[in-house]
Amino acid sequence: MRQFNLTLAALATTTGLVAAQSKAAIEKQLQANGLNIALLNSTINGPLATTDCSLLCSTINLFYPNRILTQNEAAFTNWTESFWSQQQEVVTPRCVFEPTSAVEVSSALLLAELFSCPFAVKSGGHAAFGGSSNIENGLSISLGGLDEIVLSDDQSVVSIGSGNIWVDIYDYLEEYSLAVIGGRVSTIGVGGLTTGGIFIANVETSAPGGISFFSQEYGWACDNVVNYEVVLASGIVVDVNIDSYPDLYWALRGGGNNFGIVTRFELSTIQQGFLWSGSLIYLSEYTTDAIDAFYNYGLNAASDPKSAVIMNWAYDEGMFLAVADLEYANTTVNPPIFQNFTVIPTVENTMANRTLSEVTDMFQESNPDGLRESYWTATFRLSKDMIAFLVDTFEEEAIRAANATGYIPALVLQIISTDMTTQMQKNGGNALGLSPVDGNLILLNLSFMWDDIADDNLILDILGTITNKSIAYAKENCLYKEYLYMNYASQYQAVLPSYGTENFNKLKDVSAKYDPFQVFQKLQPGYFKLSSQPPNTTYPTYD
Ligand SMILES: Cc1cc2nc3c(=O)[nH]c(=O)nc-3n(C[C@H](O)[C@H](O)[C@H](O)COP(=O)(O)OP(=O)(O)OC[C@H]3O[C@@H](n4cnc5c(N)ncnc54)[C@H](O)[C@@H]3O)c2cc1C
Ligand SMILES: *[C@@H]1O[C@H](CO)[C@@H](O)[C@H](O)[C@H]1NC(C)=O
Ligand SMILES: *[C@@H]1O[C@H](CO)[C@@H](O)[C@H](O)[C@H]1NC(C)=O
Ligand SMILES: *[C@@H]1O[C@H](CO)[C@@H](O)[C@H](O)[C@H]1NC(C)=O
Ligand SMILES: *[C@@H]1O[C@H](CO)[C@@H](O)[C@H](O)[C@H]1NC(C)=O
Ligand SMILES: *[C@@H]1O[C@H](CO)[C@@H](O)[C@H](O)[C@H]1NC(C)=O
Ligand SMILES: *[C@@H]1O[C@H](CO)[C@@H](O)[C@H](O)[C@H]1NC(C)=O
Ligand SMILES: *[C@@H]1O[C@H](CO)[C@@H](O)[C@H](O)[C@H]1NC(C)=O
Ligand SMILES: *[C@@H]1O[C@H](CO)[C@@H](O)[C@H](O)[C@H]1NC(C)=O
Ligand SMILES: *[C@@H]1O[C@H](CO)[C@@H](O)[C@H](O)[C@H]1NC(C)=O
Repeated sequence: MRQFNLTLAALATTTGLVAAQSKAAIEKQLQANGLNIALLNSTINGPLATTDCSLLCSTINLFYPNRILTQNEAAFTNWTESFWSQQQEVVTPRCVFEPTSAVEVSSALLLAELFSCPFAVKSGGHAAFGGSSNIENGLSISLGGLDEIVLSDDQSVVSIGSGNIWVDIYDYLEEYSLAVIGGRVSTIGVGGLTTGGIFIANVETSAPGGISFFSQEYGWACDNVVNYEVVLASGIVVDVNIDSYPDLYWALRGGGNNFGIVTRFELSTIQQGFLWSGSLIYLSEYTTDAIDAFYNYGLNAASDPKSAVIMNWAYDEGMFLAVADLEYANTTVNPPIFQNFTVIPTVENTMANRTLSEVTDMFQESNPDGLRESYWTATFRLSKDMIAFLVDTFEEEAIRAANATGYIPALVLQIISTDMTTQMQKNGGNALGLSPVDGNLILLNLSFMWDDIADDNLILDILGTITNKSIAYAKENCLYKEYLYMNYASQYQAVLPSYGTENFNKLKDVSAKYDPFQVFQKLQPGYFKLSSQPPNTTYPTYD
């Protein structure tokens, strides 16, 4: 039998991954979690392959039989196919663990520390780039089994397991004419959107914020979480709210996957019935009118907090189209705030009264699974010239990949209104570094879909060029706001430094306090880290 201590030391040296808490501390917490740690010895038998995590996988399997998926099983293949983007689907973990409780998440995390095995955490699996919530040769922790939805007796708060997808929560709450500030596409997970931010243009879980369709009136999803149940690096499960751990609470609201694994969110509910909602589709001859309407909406958005607008420019089957997605948080037909959109002639108009889950299902249809996907973002001050520049640059650049199979490029703009930034100041503020003094802002979401890996370099070059040119233009014209929205950012963008030096440093302090061995930085390498570097530092090149 191998000596455990030697083994750990050997692992840490060979992998250089983590200075974990001591073996004794880990064992103590595992014991507190109810595990018979005497069993550990039996798995540490035989030679260790330090570059793979098979030993960790078999150990978890020992403690939690039938909860581990391994590579040759049909259920494993099903699981990898459950991601939204192709780039995440092709990542092959050593195994997948499906916990059903916070304590099980804690044990898996502690064992990953013990074995120095890199891990990833998946909620709804909608982050676009490879390795965001899945990990090559590592342990992928899949939160789908954390699916409770419980409404408080007074109906003011709903407690949701972090493996839920938004539509299930909306369906549940609809019976009570209630809603929560969550994702706009039905299958987005609560985990990613709420930790990433949740920007909801009037109503998605790994965003430091999360935008919803109700964000003007109530702020972003992260601003409406009253309590987080979190598994810390030590394996301890804590309730994080403004009273218990104000600093950690602040950091979770936008800080991404850097502070712990959230197992449960308690969200404030809002009264919500039908929404007047749908899309207006315009031919390219009305581009200028659509720009005007969107600009004026930006100026006036804060005057009608029930309104939400997502303005899309897309290229499909040889044509540029503009699409205004409009949502109003009650059944007012054609509210005045939307007049400038409704007067423009359309090729299609789908406005109707819909429930929130119907609206999110509608968005789902335009976001099919299994394609290659890339999101890029930036933030600008509201200006008509800026919008026109974005549209022109998008059209000029996007056309370069016109022949790529399955190609659907989109330029999507939303307003971060002063109403939203005012709402963000509640409950002690969030980590995003946005404030009403910035005025109304334009949030850029470049969202491109395509089929073939052979087109990656060209398309990434197009995305990088549009982003670079827009930022350069904005800087020249004093329209640049340094803020990157995590949920829309690419792997080539460093999100957390964009929250401002003070916020960034504060996030690092919170991390040092609650994760002294930096487990979430070293052992969970995917997605946006507390680093001045973006997740991928090799910028795509194309000639
Ligand atoms: C079609 C589509 C529509 C979208 N619409 C919106 C929208 O309306 N508003 C908006 O704000 N955003 C939107 N987004 C962005 C979305 O919020 C992010 O992609 C988000 O990360 C998805 O969350 P997820 O749980 O599905 O993702 P996942 O890929 O499962 O997770 C994303 C990241 O969060 C981490 N994470 C997940 N759960 C937890 C947890 N419980 N604890 C700690 N870390 C966790 C993961 O490790 C990963 O790094 C949309 C994305 C798509 C693809
Ligand atoms: C593992 O085995 C060693 C040597 O046999 C023993 O001293 C130790 O107590 C065992 N550990 C556990 C957790 O049972
Ligand atoms: C895989 O998914 C298919 C389709 O959803 C389902 O019918 C099948 O039962 C799944 N297989 C396993 C082993 O989970
Ligand atoms: C939407 O609801 C309002 C208020 O109930 C009603 O007046 C209107 O006719 C409905 N419109 C449609 C298209 O269903
Ligand atoms: C919808 O909300 C607006 C703004 O708050 C209000 O004026 C209007 O009466 C509401 N209409 C309905 C049908 O609830
Ligand atoms: C509509 O556009 C006009 C300018 O054409 C502007 O004056 C008005 O404020 C806009 N209305 C709204 C509600 O945005
Ligand atoms: C797309 O293909 C058509 C037909 O082969 C060709 O004429 C056109 O130049 C191509 N466009 C681009 C951008 O490669
Ligand atoms: C970005 O735009 C695309 C294209 O319209 C849209 O489907 C997607 O939901 C938007 N992303 C987010 C995170 O809102
Ligand atoms: C965009 O700017 C970055 C940073 O300056 C640079 O590294 C990159 O090459 C540029 N990309 C394109 C496509 O121009
Ligand atoms: C980073 O991006 C480059 C350029 O697209 C790519 O070749 C490389 O594989 C990426 N690296 C990782 C780790 O994904």
